Amino acid sequence: MGYKHLSFPENSVFLVTGGAGFIGSNLCERLLEMGYTVRCLDNLSTGKREYVDMFAGNPSYSFIFGDITDLETCKAACEGADFVLNQAAWGSVPRSIEMPLYYEQVNIRGTLNMMEAARLCDVKKFVYASSSSVYGDSPVLPKSEGQEGELLSPYALTKRVCEEYGKLYYRLYGLQTIGLRYFNVFGRRQDPDGAYAAVIPKFIKLLLNGETPVIYGDGRQSRDFTYVENVVEANLKACLAHEAASGQSFNIAYGGREYLIDIYRSISKALGREDIQPRFEQERKGDIRHSNADIKKARTMLGYEPDYDFDTGLRLAIEWYKENLK
Ligand SMILES: NC(=O)c1ccc[n+]([C@@H]2O[C@H](COP(=O)([O-])OP(=O)(O)OC[C@H]3O[C@@H](n4cnc5c(N)ncnc54)[C@H](O)[C@@H]3O)[C@@H](O)[C@H]2O)c1
Repeated sequence: MGYKHLSFPENSVFLVTGGAGFIGSNLCERLLEMGYTVRCLDNLSTGKREYVDMFAGNPSYSFIFGDITDLETCKAACEGADFVLNQAAWGSVPRSIEMPLYYEQVNIRGTLNMMEAARLCDVKKFVYASSSSVYGDSPVLPKSEGQEGELLSPYALTKRVCEEYGKLYYRLYGLQTIGLRYFNVFGRRQDPDGAYAAVIPKFIKLLLNGETPVIYGDGRQSRDFTYVENVVEANLKACLAHEAASGQSFNIAYGGREYLIDIYRSISKALGREDIQPRFEQERKGDIRHSNADIKKARTMLGYEPDYDFDTGLRLAIEWYKENLK
């Protein structure tokens, strides 16, 4: 269970792209706690300077301010790295529908640059963030690798293209790539602000401030919300996976199913704000109704055994926001 018992060769160097963001900063923090050397490459477009500064005094941490759309930057960052955890990308389905060209540039070209740099630098494993959105309109539940439907957004397309490059880079060049299809990750440091923020931090922040959250649709849509520690575990286990896992993608979730309206109620109850009712608005384009994951493949091939169920994760997340959103 978990990942704290895992060990890598001494002096291992990890490059975390997007390390100033939500998932990336959690990866950096855990790797540093485990005693490894961590390099973070980020352009601070959606990431935060404070999630870099928090490690500033640690000699095992270094920050490269740079953009993955620039190949030379990627090559310099990969030089001497053993493992790459590629998290840098732009998220949000609705935003990608508004700016498809930008998504193509950052998410596809950026990830391809990183794969190319990792190949040139003989990186041992290239683990990259994919997304449950690659399942598109497939009505099959739970979602299993190999049962993808038609895509619903430019964001989903960028993730699918990266997975195809991941396959090719293993097949053609032997770069050990592993794609992790995250399902609605949540937890400390996820950004609660802005039109494209994820629901859990957004609900928490608005309710803490006594404001009214909006639910798009009827609230009966469901997701496999996944606490960020489980995602950290998946990344570390992917780095240690047998070569047979290379060129493949894996669902990374808890394997549960939570309805949006129930999450709303749990948060309002935990914050003592049951007096605030959500406002319902029309559902958004590109959103799917239900999504939950079959995590058998990751269990079998990566040894992934998520420790944190939804309720535990939500409790920890609420505690963190109460403490940090002052
Ligand atoms: N959070 C989720 O629920 C979720 C679900 C599925 C997939 N993902 C994927 O996980 C990864 C991390 O997501 P997150 O939620 O931590 O998002 P985030 O926005 O908090 O982090 C992304 C980081 O990448 C950086 N970045 C963006 N463009 C860059 C560029 N061109 N060069 C260098 N750095 C750049 C940002 O500044 C930010 O720090 C992304 O690839 C995202 O698509 C996230």
